[in-house]
Amino acid sequence: MDIYELPTNDEILFALGEAPLGEGAEATVYKIHTHPKYTIRISNQLNKNDAFNYIKESELHLQKNVFGHRNFAQTVAYFWHPEDTMEFGPKITINYYCPGFSYEIYKPGRPVPDSEEALIKTKLMSEKILEIPDKAIDTIYDDLHFISAKEYSIDVGGGLFTNTGNILFSALDQRLFIIDLQPFLEKGRQGTNPLNTKGFNTPLFLTRGLMPGMERYKNEHAKDPYLINLRTEILDKVISGAERNNLNDEGGYLAGSLDKMAQYWKVQFSILNTPEKYQENMLKRLMSIKDVQKYHHPKEINIPYMRISGKSIYS
Ligand SMILES: Nc1ncnc2c1ncn2[C@@H]1O[C@H](COP(=O)(O)OP(=O)(O)O)[C@@H](O)[C@H]1O
Ligand SMILES: [Mg+2]
Repeated sequence: MDIYELPTNDEILFALGEAPLGEGAEATVYKIHTHPKYTIRISNQLNKNDAFNYIKESELHLQKNVFGHRNFAQTVAYFWHPEDTMEFGPKITINYYCPGFSYEIYKPGRPVPDSEEALIKTKLMSEKILEIPDKAIDTIYDDLHFISAKEYSIDVGGGLFTNTGNILFSALDQRLFIIDLQPFLEKGRQGTNPLNTKGFNTPLFLTRGLMPGMERYKNEHAKDPYLINLRTEILDKVISGAERNNLNDEGGYLAGSLDKMAQYWKVQFSILNTPEKYQENMLKRLMSIKDVQKYHHPKEINIPYMRISGKSIYS
């Protein structure tokens, strides 16, 4: 790619005056309507006036692409300000635009829905997840194999936190897109598995990216019988995908054998109130999945990737 194919600074400033596509904990994303292949991703630390100066005082650099033709809404170029540091990264990047919408019940920057409205949304979004064709589930598993080989991870959160904001479904293309990728954490950092080869790219965490409304209202909504049914079906859909695509939970950030990973699944089942009669069978299926490495893992992948990181003045 050539830097001249990218939007000009004026186009970027124009885009920042429009309504954002979405907002996360780290950044807000705007579509560049005059250059529709791209978005502008801007750190939440910058307000609009800061952005104007930041762009004026920075130099634009191209990001080397390691993802071929695949679209993960990855950075294609970044601004670099004299005060930026490698530790904190840039504050504005240009990224690929991904079509689609995310299954969040609550979107940052928007009003928080009350419990009743949230339950309606959670049910609707869960029904929508169940309408996703299996082919799209296969594509996302293929992406998980692919990004693991590149040493990048989906960002759906560790612990029991869930983030449906980083997977988009394009109803027109009938496919899912992973966005907001991050390079693997340094091996063993923050107590992660020193033999990590998958980051969060495993069925357990994919479930959290495809399970709407699991975090907020987790106790209030978990007893709704209709929602329990939907969620049990979502679990079955994700597990079937893992079986078809030979991806198990071993070797991610969480260390341990499949047996040990079963403990995490049990916790997840209990949060979701998955009927016990299904739990055993699901666990058995998960424990029988054999990994098949689909993509070659290149040795020379140490290419720095510039993204707006959560590391900031808050940390
Ligand atoms: N390329 C994109 N195309 C469409 N929407 C996007 C794109 N990138 C981000 N978004 C929207 O903006 C939200 C925040 O972007 P994201 O990159 O996930 O930032 P954060 O790291 O702060 O979570 C996403 O959850 C999504 O709704
Ligand atoms: Mg995000």
